[in-house]
Amino acid sequence: MASSNPSSTDPTENTLVGNALRNDPRVAEARKLISEAIADHASKVTSVCDAKPNLQADYQSMLDRLTTMRGAPPIWPYLSSGMGNGPFVELADGSIKLDFICGIGVHGCGHLQNDMVQAAINAALEDTVMQGNLQQNPASLRMGERLVELASETGAKLDHCLLSTSGAMANENALKLAFHHKTPADRIIAFDNAFAGRTLATAALTDKAAYRTGLPVTIDVDYLPFRSSSNPHRSQRWAVDELHRILKRHPGKHAAFWAEPIAGEGGYYEGSQEFFRALCEPLREAGIPIIFDEVQSFSRTSKPFAFQHLGLEEFADIVTVGKITQVCGTLYGKSFNPTGPILSQTFTGASSSIATGLSMLDQLESRGCFGSDGTNMELGEYFQHGLEKLSQLYPKLLTGPFGCGMMVAFTPGDGSFDQAKQLMSIMYDTGLLGFVCGAAPTRIRFLPPPVVTTKTHIDLALALLEESLKRFQQTQSADG
Ligand SMILES: Cc1ncc(COP(=O)(O)O)c(C=O)c1O
Repeated sequence: MASSNPSSTDPTENTLVGNALRNDPRVAEARKLISEAIADHASKVTSVCDAKPNLQADYQSMLDRLTTMRGAPPIWPYLSSGMGNGPFVELADGSIKLDFICGIGVHGCGHLQNDMVQAAINAALEDTVMQGNLQQNPASLRMGERLVELASETGAKLDHCLLSTSGAMANENALKLAFHHKTPADRIIAFDNAFAGRTLATAALTDKAAYRTGLPVTIDVDYLPFRSSSNPHRSQRWAVDELHRILKRHPGKHAAFWAEPIAGEGGYYEGSQEFFRALCEPLREAGIPIIFDEVQSFSRTSKPFAFQHLGLEEFADIVTVGKITQVCGTLYGKSFNPTGPILSQTFTGASSSIATGLSMLDQLESRGCFGSDGTNMELGEYFQHGLEKLSQLYPKLLTGPFGCGMMVAFTPGDGSFDQAKQLMSIMYDTGLLGFVCGAAPTRIRFLPPPVVTTKTHIDLALALLEESLKRFQQTQSADG
C-alpha cells in the first residue's frame, strides 16, 4: 500500500524514487519561495546606477586579489554580486550595468531569470553535479536529441551530438572527426581572422599570432579572405580564386573547411548564401568536409543556426555550438561517426548547464526569437537603425553598424585597438557593457540576451552609448 506521506516512496511501487523527490511538495514549496524572493529583489535592479562608495575599497581589494591569483589583471573590472534582472546586472561594487555582452553571448535569458533558476534547482537535485561519458542522466540525452532535432529540421544531415564543456572542446572534437574521416589529410582551410578557441589545435586554427605566442604549431591551416559587405562580388572572387590556388597547391591534403557563418571574434562580418555557396560547391567536389562553428552565432538570427539562416543546410557536415546553449556540442552526420575510440570525456557538462541549456532552447522558441519576423531580426534591425542614426550624428566617432540579428557591432573612432578599448572603458563606466572584436578595424560588439531584450533596453543602450561618445569626444579633443 502507498504511504500517506507524500515524501516517502514504497520501493515495491513501480515508480522512480528520483521522480518522487522532484515531485515532493516540499521541493515545490521551496521553488515557489525562491521565485518570490528573486522577484522581490529583482525589482530593485531595473536601471543602471553608479558604484556605492562604501563598497569600493572591498571591490578594489577583490580585483587586486584576482590579479594576484590569475597572474594578470582581469580583462575588465567585472565581479558580479550574483544579482541581476533581464539584461541588468549588479556588480559587487553596487553598480548596475546594462549588460549587452553577457559574458560574450552566454546569458540568453539575461541575469538570474526565474525559469533558468528553476531549471538549475531541478539540476541541483540530480545525483551528480557533472555528467559525463560514464554518468549520463536523461537530461543529457534530451539535450543532444534536441540539438540534433533543431539542426536537422530544415534538412541538414546531422544525426549525432557529443556534448562538451567548452566551445574549444566542441571544435577540437569536430576537428578530430574530420581528420579521422579524411585520414591521412592533415591540413585545414579557414578564414582570415578566424577564432576557434584556445586549445593547441584551435589556437593553431585561430588567425591571431599573439594567441600562439610560444606554442607549437599543431595544424597547418590555409586561410581565405572573408566576404566584405562593402565589396561582396570582388571579395567573393578573391576567396574563390584563393580556394582554387590552395586546393591545387595541396591536393588531397585538406581534412576540412572550418568556418563561422558570421565571423565573431574576427569582427562581426556577415557571410551570405551566395558567398558560401561559391566556396562550398568546389569544396564538395573536392570531397572536403565542411564544419560550421556556431559557438557565437547560434540563436542570434532568424533560425536557431546561422547556417540555416543563410540556407546552407546541404553543406553542414559537422556543426559546433556553445555559449548560449550553456553546454557545448559537436553535431555530425552518420558518415563522420568515428570507427575508433577517439572521443570521450569524464565531464560532458554540468547537470545545471544541461538543464538550463534545455530551458534556454525552449524559451528561444516559445518567446518568438526565430522566424524572418521574429524578435531576433526585428530587434537587431531596430538596434542597427539606432546605431545608424548615431553614426550620422557622430560620423568621426562611429561607423557601421555591422553584424546580423542579435549580433551587432560598430567601429569606433579611427578603428584602432586603442580607441576601441578607450571607448569600451568609457561605456563601462557609463553603465553599458559591450566588448571589442576584430582587428584593423577593431570594433565594439553587442550580444544582447535574445529572450529578454526589449526596444526600451535598446533605447537605453543607445542613450548610454551617445553619452559615452560625448565623453570619448572630449578625451579626443583634450588629447589633440
Ligand atoms: C566562434 C567561436 N568558436 C569557439 C569559441 C571558443 O569557445 P570557448 O571559449 O567556450 O572555448 C568561441 C569563443 O569565443 C567562439 O566565438
